[in-house]
Amino acid sequence: MCGIVGAASRQDIVPILIQGLQRLEYRGYDSCGVAVHRASLTGHAAGLQRARSTARVSELMEQVQTEGIASGTGIAHTRWATHGAPAVHNAHPHFSTGPGSSQALARIALVHNGIIENHEALRDQLQAQGYVFHSQTDTEVIAHLIDSHYRGDLRTAVTQTVAQLRGAYAIAVIHHDEPHRVVGARAGSPLILGVAQGQRFLASDAMALAGVTDQIVYLEEGDLVDLNPDSHRIWSRDGSEVQRPVRTVQAHSGAADLGPYRHYMQKEIFEQPGAVADTLMGIEAIHPDLFGPHAAQVLADIERVLILACGTSYYSGCVAQYWLESLAQIPCRVEVASEYRYRDSVPHPHTLVVTISQSGETADTLAALRHAQSLGMPHSLTICNVATSAMVRECELSYVTRAGVEIGVASTKAFTTQLAGLFLLTLTLMKLRNRLSPEQEAQHLRDMRHLPAAMQSVLALEPQVIAWAQEFASKENALFLGRGTHYPIALEGALKLKEITYIHAEAYAAGELKHGPLALVTSAMPVVTVAPNDALLEKLKSNLQEVRARGGVLYVLADADSHISASEGVQVIRMPEHYGVLSPMLHVLPLQLLAYHTACARGTDVDKPRNLAKSVTVE
Ligand code: M6R
Repeated sequence: MCGIVGAASRQDIVPILIQGLQRLEYRGYDSCGVAVHRASLTGHAAGLQRARSTARVSELMEQVQTEGIASGTGIAHTRWATHGAPAVHNAHPHFSTGPGSSQALARIALVHNGIIENHEALRDQLQAQGYVFHSQTDTEVIAHLIDSHYRGDLRTAVTQTVAQLRGAYAIAVIHHDEPHRVVGARAGSPLILGVAQGQRFLASDAMALAGVTDQIVYLEEGDLVDLNPDSHRIWSRDGSEVQRPVRTVQAHSGAADLGPYRHYMQKEIFEQPGAVADTLMGIEAIHPDLFGPHAAQVLADIERVLILACGTSYYSGCVAQYWLESLAQIPCRVEVASEYRYRDSVPHPHTLVVTISQSGETADTLAALRHAQSLGMPHSLTICNVATSAMVRECELSYVTRAGVEIGVASTKAFTTQLAGLFLLTLTLMKLRNRLSPEQEAQHLRDMRHLPAAMQSVLALEPQVIAWAQEFASKENALFLGRGTHYPIALEGALKLKEITYIHAEAYAAGELKHGPLALVTSAMPVVTVAPNDALLEKLKSNLQEVRARGGVLYVLADADSHISASEGVQVIRMPEHYGVLSPMLHVLPLQLLAYHTACARGTDVDKPRNLAKSVTVE
């Protein structure tokens, strides 16, 4: 989703702005741009200058070089279209030339992440004052509004402007008359400040500044920041000046290296054994402290669990629901965050609200968390991959997974590490509820330690999955079936396939087949079935018969001892061993590989699928 980089420096920062955009490319975008204040370096002519493009950031860089754009003060942006099509005139930065002629000198340049809900009313008001709009974006409204308030001090104008905005925003602004100043503000969308000798930066996340500075200030909701090369000042929402701590943050600049892999998704699939090992590193016993110093007290007070998440993270929550109810015997609901935040629900004060998120910045999940808190459910825990994210900051307890930076839009290693964290939560609640004997605890810990090796042996099945992918590449539809904890795995397999191959894929609990989807089954419909050797295997085998009887072609992921054999219309990949309750963490791997290799065969943009963004920071 949209990315911001801004800088105030005494040196040329254009290369840093462009590199920052390149580091944010993983978030997904359809246009990009940069604006600078030319007079910030001595000997340069005055005025704001910009370059924008609907191509990749690398082409923006060529444009910048050709036009000789250099400056110590600038802002840059990658845009993921919400209001207005992906087009140069909608790309950020947006200018305001003041009311009247659009030929006049640009006075304001602004970049924005988020959505302004009252943009139409503000647009009408500004048009009545004579402002001319050049885009369909909600963002241009902010630029003109700042201009309308400007009386010689950019911070005052931005303060007055944000007071009029409804919705979510992170902004960075420069003004023609103030060549060394950048003003930023945030509410609902993330923005960080980077600090270095003689330089100050703004960015959507610390990754954008990897290799530039590791001194980071996390701006809080409603903060406004005023920077120049040598200093910065921050004001909170109530207008009082505040000090925010500067933290040292390792932003993993090396994570962007592909190494021997063709795509980040491929790299991240194969990183999973290591990511799960890192996530479970050092755990010798099950103890509430794994989730924070006060976890014992908090977890002792809860009677039920409410899981809130989106997309792949939601599916990991669905697996956890089975674990929590069957193993810890604790009632659990899982809700899609964007639904929960707007529906009327019945709160229970002794609920543990669990959010799951790779990025920790997903707007719907954060809003759902705040909604649950506002309903009187104070206890919250997050399973999150970014220690410094809003999700971790806003939850009472946390388990930070150690998947490392995930760049591919299709989530893979985040999912399996989330499951590792959720299984630890299940064991912890079991123990607190006297449902975990010392022998069981020791056995579960042994099984978890075995996971990385087990994952390696499943990933070694890749050649067989590639053979399936060759067949899937020419399909336009696919059905995925699973039961129990493997039903969410079927859902996740279908999501992966549709996300990166654009093949229409649906997943069903296998028992639902005859209640509708069976009507779709013909010889043209591949049916992927996740068939571990568990209590539901015999039922699943009946479902497979139902598919075969209609001429459907089955692709079965079976355990070694499932007694399902390949035959006419039935292809089988055998998993190396049976993994018990942890089986979902293994069965998902061939499905990730299937989506990946099918996408390669179809020639789609694996890491940046069309229309999607990595970090969904707007509603
Ligand atoms: O960062 P989050 O885990 O909160 O993101 C949630 C979803 O946007 C994300 O899982 C999305 O569904 C992925 N693209 C799926 O591969």
